[in-house]
Amino acid sequence: MHRVFSGIQPSGELHIGNWLGAVQNWVALQDQYQCVYCVVDLHAITFPYQPAALAARTREMVVGLLAAGIDPERSILFVQSHVPEHAELQWLFTTVAPLGELERMTQFKDKAQRLESVSAGLLCYPVLQAADILLYRAEAVPVGEDQLQHLEFTREIARRWNSLFALDAPYFPEPRALLTKARRIMGLDGQSKMSKSLGNTIGLNDPPEVIWEKLRPAKTDPKRVRRTDPGTPEDCNLYDLHRYFSPPDAVTNVALQCRSAGWGCLDCKRVLADNMVKTLTPIRERAAGLRAEPARVDEVIAHGARRASAIARETIAQVTARMGFLPRQEV
Ligand code: TRP
Repeated sequence: MHRVFSGIQPSGELHIGNWLGAVQNWVALQDQYQCVYCVVDLHAITFPYQPAALAARTREMVVGLLAAGIDPERSILFVQSHVPEHAELQWLFTTVAPLGELERMTQFKDKAQRLESVSAGLLCYPVLQAADILLYRAEAVPVGEDQLQHLEFTREIARRWNSLFALDAPYFPEPRALLTKARRIMGLDGQSKMSKSLGNTIGLNDPPEVIWEKLRPAKTDPKRVRRTDPGTPEDCNLYDLHRYFSPPDAVTNVALQCRSAGWGCLDCKRVLADNMVKTLTPIRERAAGLRAEPARVDEVIAHGARRASAIARETIAQVTARMGFLPRQEV
């Protein structure tokens, strides 16, 4: 079976943006691939953060992934910092990583702009990402479009390292992207990508009344001003969400009612809220069940780290041997 690797930031609670854009796909891929899924806490510290909140955010992300359907037996689900080989391979890769390219990465430039002082860790973020993927010699990486540049960088690291240290036959594969069908999910403000830091999300744990409170004021077709104005579903941010949450006949009806001004936006939002609640309730309940059993979650996290470590150690042994280090004795 081919191997897939992907990582997600420990942002705490999952929201419908990362669920539709990434996690649903992660769940589906479990049928076809050996999947390795990682909560990337080492990446999270490259940007200012609160140390006191990191552990809880990491744990909550694991809970969310389990509740969304990641199966910790079929897939390897683990926390990045629990497998120190990520940091080790990252260091080895910094010695083949082209500095100029790191400085030109769009995500680096965006983030650096917002900081007074830029750390070397932020610059090396893509090197750590390359180490994540290549440590498991993954061949495919489910990501959104915003990560394509980092993936291209990963392929370049693989090529450079192979050309220096694996002259006989390539050791690292050049991983390809598995792009998700869901385009980028816009936030409820209809302005920017749905993102926790912008506060424009619906969380997977939001109870029905909170979903309604958030949907009620959400932006719709900006050209539909009065209740009697006909609307254009394709210009409505929420119509997009209907397509993910409402059954096909309901979606057809929503479009019809919008174009004829048969329904106002509020009518349409009520239907969306109902369907969203139906879809999300089982996930919210599973997450609550897991939070009530912390020992079980701990065991899942430990199990994932053990399985990831077994692969990671083997890769590091191969890599350090090929790079010419003196073999380490058992200590
Ligand atoms: N940079 C990714 C993001 O922000 C997270 C990530 C870290 C990742 N390591 C990875 C994604 C490896 C895919 C593969 O979404």
